[in-house]
Amino acid sequence: MASIVLPLASTSPSVVADNRKLVRIGGSCMPNVRGEKRRDFSFKSRSSGRITMAVAVNVSRFEGVTMAPPDPILGVSEAFRADTNDLKLNLGVGAYRTEELQPYVLNVVKKAEKLMLEKGENKEYLPIEGLAAFNKVTAELLLGAGNPVLQQGRVATVQGLSGTGSLRLAAAFIQRYFPDAKALISSPTWGNHKNIFNDARVPWSEYRYYEPKTVGLDFDGMISDIKAAPDGSFVVLHGCAHNPTGIDPTPEQWEKIADVIQEKNHIPFFDVAYQGFASGNLDEDASSVRSFVSRGLEVLIAQSYSKNLGLYAERIGAINVVCSSSDAAARVKSQLKRLARPMYSNPPVHGARIVANVVGDPSLFNEWKEEMELMAGRIKNVRQRLFDSLSQKDKSGKDWSFILRQIGMFSFTGLNKAQSDNMTNKWHVYMTKDGRISLAGLSLAKCEYLADAIIDSYHNVS
Ligand SMILES: Cc1ncc(COP(=O)(O)O)c(C=O)c1O
Repeated sequence: MASIVLPLASTSPSVVADNRKLVRIGGSCMPNVRGEKRRDFSFKSRSSGRITMAVAVNVSRFEGVTMAPPDPILGVSEAFRADTNDLKLNLGVGAYRTEELQPYVLNVVKKAEKLMLEKGENKEYLPIEGLAAFNKVTAELLLGAGNPVLQQGRVATVQGLSGTGSLRLAAAFIQRYFPDAKALISSPTWGNHKNIFNDARVPWSEYRYYEPKTVGLDFDGMISDIKAAPDGSFVVLHGCAHNPTGIDPTPEQWEKIADVIQEKNHIPFFDVAYQGFASGNLDEDASSVRSFVSRGLEVLIAQSYSKNLGLYAERIGAINVVCSSSDAAARVKSQLKRLARPMYSNPPVHGARIVANVVGDPSLFNEWKEEMELMAGRIKNVRQRLFDSLSQKDKSGKDWSFILRQIGMFSFTGLNKAQSDNMTNKWHVYMTKDGRISLAGLSLAKCEYLADAIIDSYHNVS
C-alpha cells in the first residue's frame, strides 16, 4: 500500500519507519542509513520555496525470502482438501484409515491415556535423553529384550521427535563426528531423507534399489553401488516395508548386504518406521536390524511410533546407536544429548508415556499386537482386492502381480509423473508424483474405482 509519508522542508531529512521503503517517483535517489532507497521529490511552492516529499511503500524485510514449494507428500493432502469432488481419494500421505476411510486411534492408546489420567502424572520437563521407561522398552522392542548388546550396556538410546527427529539428530551427529563421511540412500527413498541430510550438511549419494522393468529390487545394482562408495560411508537402509517401493530384500539378500557393508567398513544406518506394520509381526519386521547387530556391527537405528501405534502427531520415536563397548555407548549418548539440547532441549512426554505403558504392560502389549495384526491385515486385504480388480478389468495381459510382492503401507504402481497427474486431474486420486499410493488410505469398496483410474492412466497416458 503506497502512502505519502511527509511533506518535508528541503533542509530536513526524511524520517522513515523501519518497515518502509521509499519509492522513486522522480528526482534523485539515495540510500539512507539503513540501506533503504529514498527519493526526494522537489518542487517549488508558491509561498515557501522548495519542499521535499517522500513517498513510501510498506515493504517486508523478508523481500528476499522466496516461496518454498509445497512438500511433495504433505502438499498432496493440502490439494486433496481443496478438491470438492465426492469421488476424491487421498492415497498420498502414509496414514492408516479404517474401512470407512476415517483416522483411527488404537484402543490400547486410549487405555494407556486413561491410565495416565488416573495416575495424574505431571508435566515436568523430561531429561534431554527422554523418558527412561520409554528408552528401555523401545530398545527392547527393536532388538529383542534378551539381546546381549542391551545386557552389556552397548546401546545409546535417546528419545527423538518421532522418526524424522531421530534421523535428524543422528545426521547432526554424523556431521559433527564424521565430517568427511557420506550417507548412501536408496534410489528412490522416502522424500525427507534428502532434506534431512541436506539440512544437516551431510553429503549423500544414491545407491540403485528399484528396477522398473520388474517393479522389483535391483539387487546387483544395490550391491555394486554400496561396494563402490568410499569406505566408512553411512548406508541408510529401510528396516522393513521400504518407502516408497514396498520392496524389501529377502533374508538371504540382507545377509549379502551385511557382508558388503562389513567388507567396506561402512556403518549401517537403519530407518525403522514400520515395525509390526509390514508383516503384522514385531519380531519379523525387526529381523533385518537384529541380524546386523548379531554380527557384532556398530549400527544406528531410528525408530518411529507414528504408524504402528498411530501416534503420528505425538512425535515419538528414538535413535539407538549400537556400539562395540559400553564406554563408547556412554560417550555417544552424551554427545547426542549435547546436540539435542540447543535444538529442542528435551522431548515431549505424552507419546513416550503411551509407548512405555503399552509396551511395558503385558496385557496392553498383547492387545496392541492384535490391533496391529488387524491393521496390517486390512492393508493386505486391500492389496489383494486391488490386484484382483486390476487383473479382471485390464484385458491387455499386463502382469500386475508385483503389487502382491510389495509389502507394507505402500504400493509403487510404476506410474510415471504424467500418469500420476492423470490420476489426480481426471480421477481425483491424490498420490505422490513418483507413482506411490498408500494402501492404508484405501477401502475395499474403492478398489474397483482405483483400478479403473490406474488402467486408464497406464494405458492412455504416455
Ligand atoms: C521411511 C520413513 N522414515 C521415517 C518416517 C518418519 O515419520 P515420522 O517422523 O512421522 O515418525 C517415515 C514416515 O512416513 C518414513 O516413511
